[in-house]
Amino acid sequence: MKNFFITTPIYYVNDLPHIGHAYTTIAADIISRWKRLSGETVFFLTGTDEHGSKIMEAAEKTGESPLEYASRISGEFKRLWTVLNISNDDYIRTTDKRHETVVQDIFEKLKKSGDIYKGVYEDWYCLNDETYYSDADLVNGNCPACGRAVQKLKEDSYFFKLSRYEKPLLEFYENNPGFLFPKNRASEIINFVKSGLQDLSVSRTRVKWGIPVPSDPAHTVYVWFDALLNYITALGYKTDGKSAPLFETFWPCDVHLVGKEIFRFHAVIWPAMLMALKIQTPKRIFAHGWWTVDGTKMSKSLGNVVDPHKMAAAYGVDAFRYFLFREVPFGADGDFSEKSLQTRFNAELANNLGNLLQRTTTILLKQLEGIIPPKKGPTNLLEKAPVILERVNSDYSELSLGGVLDEVYGLMIKTNKYIDDEAPWKLGPDGKEKLGAILYECLSVLKFLAVLLQPFMPEKSAELWRRLGETDSITQAGGGILEAIKKGNPISFKTGQTVLKGDPLFMRIVTKK
Ligand code: MSP
Repeated sequence: MKNFFITTPIYYVNDLPHIGHAYTTIAADIISRWKRLSGETVFFLTGTDEHGSKIMEAAEKTGESPLEYASRISGEFKRLWTVLNISNDDYIRTTDKRHETVVQDIFEKLKKSGDIYKGVYEDWYCLNDETYYSDADLVNGNCPACGRAVQKLKEDSYFFKLSRYEKPLLEFYENNPGFLFPKNRASEIINFVKSGLQDLSVSRTRVKWGIPVPSDPAHTVYVWFDALLNYITALGYKTDGKSAPLFETFWPCDVHLVGKEIFRFHAVIWPAMLMALKIQTPKRIFAHGWWTVDGTKMSKSLGNVVDPHKMAAAYGVDAFRYFLFREVPFGADGDFSEKSLQTRFNAELANNLGNLLQRTTTILLKQLEGIIPPKKGPTNLLEKAPVILERVNSDYSELSLGGVLDEVYGLMIKTNKYIDDEAPWKLGPDGKEKLGAILYECLSVLKFLAVLLQPFMPEKSAELWRRLGETDSITQAGGGILEAIKKGNPISFKTGQTVLKGDPLFMRIVTKK
């Protein structure tokens, strides 16, 4: 049995979650669900990043203590994940004791090994991004990431000897071409490291809301140093070398999913920290693009933040999940448009998938009492099913979630065309056998589609599955179907299996002009 560990970034609690956060988390959920269907043992981790001045300031504004504030917003993230049907196995908060104590131990361990030393730090600091910038980084004197004003800060600080890892990192990238992903984002990182790494300031005396350095409590641990460690503290990693079963099972991580703006932290600092700790590096960092709205970055001040709760309430959780990965190739930037969501909903989900199920089951119920006829001859539409499955698996290994949906959509189109061409509703009373054969083809495809779509649309797929007269749960039986297809076996139904009558899977959206 293979083990698979996948993570999302841990999100800042300075604001409510929006579709950007939902995007990465749904992606991790889709991949986790597919791996589970494929028989792997999955550990899917998400959580919240709760320290730093930004969060303290946000708490001051609401009159809560930083922890009360962080707990409330972290709760909002959790609530969204429940609404969006996220199947995470753990949820880590950087204010969890299990995290804080291990971060402290790690800091002290690296101090002892000489990877962390004390010095003085002075540079431009962006409060919003919790990041220092040098003169060269600034854009018109402002933060290069968020455009806000920066301030000059000077403080005693502990430094992590990042410079020591310049060569090891370059060698590591060279020997592990799958680490920096997608490939078109790799050169940015390699060039950055090649241009020379400076030691990284990893403690703050100004930031009070953070994990204290045990041997020098005037310092708190830099939020990024604290945050990155969540990926191992959640697995129970300890510096004392005592057994940590989850860590031993799931580390090294298979994929850290991140947005492109935090690729560098994950692709440079994180592996260097692990090298210093003599811990294996993760297998892959995947940086995806950004959602904008009408071409503009989402922001509270512009009032263009898309609320995932609203989208899920208006179109259903599953259609929203489907849309995010159908609309834009995973990895690239994309522009969110509700109009496009509506168009795809009607064209692809209601008129295509939903209609295919409705047509097939309605004729079967009318003409053959809903009983799926015994199989006669090969199913031509699924002749290529093993090849499709192979392509889907390869899409998953490249994290091409849009590629998976292209396969699904191709099959939907082909099957609808088949049923149009065959026009089974025109067959007279003598055509029952042919009718049975046509419907069998379509039902087989629908069963395959239910399994392929399960990671994207867990509820609609389960409903589709149920409507086909399946009685086991799709999450349990789906893996068996994939196995059978891999072996070249046809999709089968139980003798006498009867499809169920029901409402359309997706109700067309009627929009006002
Ligand atoms: N706390 C850090 C991450 C620490 S990980 C050890 C952080 N948090 S965040 O709240 O700002 O979340 C950033 C992540 O949310 C992005 O990397 C991305 O995964 C997701 N998104 C936030 N806005 C986004 C878009 N507009 N579009 C797509 N995803 C984006 O950074």
